[in-house]
Amino acid sequence: MKKITIAVDGLSSTGKSTLAKQLAKKLHYIYVDSGAMYRAVTLYAMQEGFIENGEIAKADLIESLDKIELKFVFNTHLGFAEMFLNGKNVEREIRTLEVSKNVSQVAELEQVRTKLVAMQQEMGKEKGVVMDGRDIGTVVFPNAELKVFMTASPEKRAVRRYKELLDKGENVKYEEILENVQKRDYIDSNRQISPLVKADDAIDFDNSDVGLDDQFQRIYEHALRIIEK
Ligand code: CDP
Repeated sequence: MKKITIAVDGLSSTGKSTLAKQLAKKLHYIYVDSGAMYRAVTLYAMQEGFIENGEIAKADLIESLDKIELKFVFNTHLGFAEMFLNGKNVEREIRTLEVSKNVSQVAELEQVRTKLVAMQQEMGKEKGVVMDGRDIGTVVFPNAELKVFMTASPEKRAVRRYKELLDKGENVKYEEILENVQKRDYIDSNRQISPLVKADDAIDFDNSDVGLDDQFQRIYEHALRIIEK
């Protein structure tokens, strides 16, 4: 069967990774969470003391980029890959609200994007990949056969992320999450390099009122139509 590239982009906390994982599993494709890579670089910057009160020591981070080794390691128990930063599993740490608060500022840096985009293109060069992020359909894989652009109301997205973090035992406030989701949308959409925009040929998908199964079924059918063409 023909292999294609699937790009899932969209606003923060729209469930891109849930959809992307479901598609990858069903199609036996590789799933790549590009956001995890930006989160891991952010965690590194925080650990090195390059971020203080939301201010990034940009020159220090850029100078250290060569020291950052990122790797996805497949966890057979969980059924998906986890992010390793310089040999250490950081899957839990990169999902905290603290990292979310700094990640969009790190993701604005040109040198960071150049490094990560090159890695992403390498991971997807054989096709058979589902990648989620902000610039996958526009910059990383502009020729992807299927592009989905996901949106939902800020409140719905904040509730979803709030529940997720509570389940993980994080002590967070709903208002703080809502503010973070909206702030990241703003920075991601207004940055100079590779801003979050819908690719002209992407399917617009507002999932405010669509269940997970229904959402998966609709996009999976799209994928099959392209694969079988
Ligand atoms: O919280 P959510 O799952 O929506 O975000 P994520 O996919 O983990 O991405 C975290 C952040 O990384 C985004 O808010 C962007 O600032 C940045 N990012 C990016 O700039 N480009 C990508 N391809 C993926 C993520």
